[in-house]
Amino acid sequence: MSFDIKNLLEDRWGENYRLHAKYLNPQLTKVLQTIGFDKIYRKGEGAYLYDDEGVAYLDFLSGYGVFNVGRNHPVVKKAIQDAIDMDLSNMVQMDCALLAGVLAEKLVALTPERLQKVFFTNSGTEAVEGALKLAKGATGRERIVFADHAFHGLTLGSLSANGCDEFRKPFGALLASTQVPFNNLVALEAELSRKDVAAFVVEPIQGKGVHLPEDDYLQGAQALCRKYGTLFILDEVQTGFGRTGKMFASEHWGLDPDLMTVAKGLSGGLIPVGAVLMSDAVYKKVFSNMEKCVVHSTTFGRNQLAMTAGLATLSVLTAERLIENAARQGEAIRARINESCAPYEMFAEARGKGLMIALEFKKPKSTKLKIGWKAIHAANGGLFGQMLTVPLMEKYHVLTQVAGHNMDVIKLLPTLVIGDKEVDHFCNSFEQVTADCHRFPGGSWDVAMGLAKKAMKKTES
Ligand SMILES: Cc1ncc(COP(=O)(O)O)c(C=O)c1O
Repeated sequence: MSFDIKNLLEDRWGENYRLHAKYLNPQLTKVLQTIGFDKIYRKGEGAYLYDDEGVAYLDFLSGYGVFNVGRNHPVVKKAIQDAIDMDLSNMVQMDCALLAGVLAEKLVALTPERLQKVFFTNSGTEAVEGALKLAKGATGRERIVFADHAFHGLTLGSLSANGCDEFRKPFGALLASTQVPFNNLVALEAELSRKDVAAFVVEPIQGKGVHLPEDDYLQGAQALCRKYGTLFILDEVQTGFGRTGKMFASEHWGLDPDLMTVAKGLSGGLIPVGAVLMSDAVYKKVFSNMEKCVVHSTTFGRNQLAMTAGLATLSVLTAERLIENAARQGEAIRARINESCAPYEMFAEARGKGLMIALEFKKPKSTKLKIGWKAIHAANGGLFGQMLTVPLMEKYHVLTQVAGHNMDVIKLLPTLVIGDKEVDHFCNSFEQVTADCHRFPGGSWDVAMGLAKKAMKKTES
């Protein structure tokens, strides 16, 4: 009997949440059911997801920022199908396959000057792991410095550079690392001047909360790293490949890091791929002789389908001028929301670059709303955000997320293919839910308190 994926999907359709609750992550299943995100999507195309009834959902999450070129882009699909049909000699390991060379050449050409060598990985966190390890190996130093609110992935090395207690707390001793406040060069210099720091690792724009650097911060950090012999690692896993309106966010501030990590947007969303880019100096220190040629290595790293997906994705990004589109549409969203939502007392600001956007709320001044705000925050630090994401999904079919633990911030990471129609639909929907949550008591507040009660029941059960 031959295997048929279409038959399998039809036979088992609808068992999604039951299977996940039993075999994968019952806690996540409960969360999705509680907030009403327990949809069953039939397909994804461009900026949209579709359910069985053909209802379209505008995807402003894009798989945590992997679908920069849109879901199931035909060019990326075709390239992968062609690569499969050619029966390529994949992962011989004891050879130098062409596609990895071509993709590495392109990445080196697109990234800052200092970056001359590429190590391919299978995810963002694996790229960060690689960068931290290479930095330790190249400097002979132990300590890593990172910023508060930082997020670099959840494996043990990357977790050592995580600025959020909720992620780190239960997992004991990690790599030797020190947290400094983001946007504070004095605190950074105090650490680096001890001359035991292998690397300072930083996201050019922080993903958790979408915090932007002050104008001279990243240049200043890079200069301090050079002064004290610390390697400067720029983590562009989320900001890369057009997300912020430039191919890489480093371009906004003219940076030239010693190491740079990329992943997410490079894959077109179809095959996992990531990379660490490094200077020749770092490469030579670690891969110092023939004996050391695989001192850092991973089995699936340069696999031909991932390389194909990466090459096709880069070509689509430029051919369709998606980076320019990200800059334009991002600006349009921020400008419109900042204007239309300014009269609402709990709305703080829309900020970001390109299509990496935070919509932040703040404590109200009026007595009525203060009561609601206090009650919601007492019930759960992340609940206010759900008061917006839940109706955005339920009423307007827009998928968004809360930007991090205990934040009153909604984060937008749409595909870079969105046009005026999608911007308009999102802004109209967001204006409605913002207006709704300024009516207290009623609508959104009841929904949120209902969520809190449901969550309590589910935790007890
Ligand atoms: C800046 C940054 N670095 C690293 C990672 C980890 O990537 P992955 O989830 O592919 O392991 C992420 C993921 O969100 C990220 O945003």
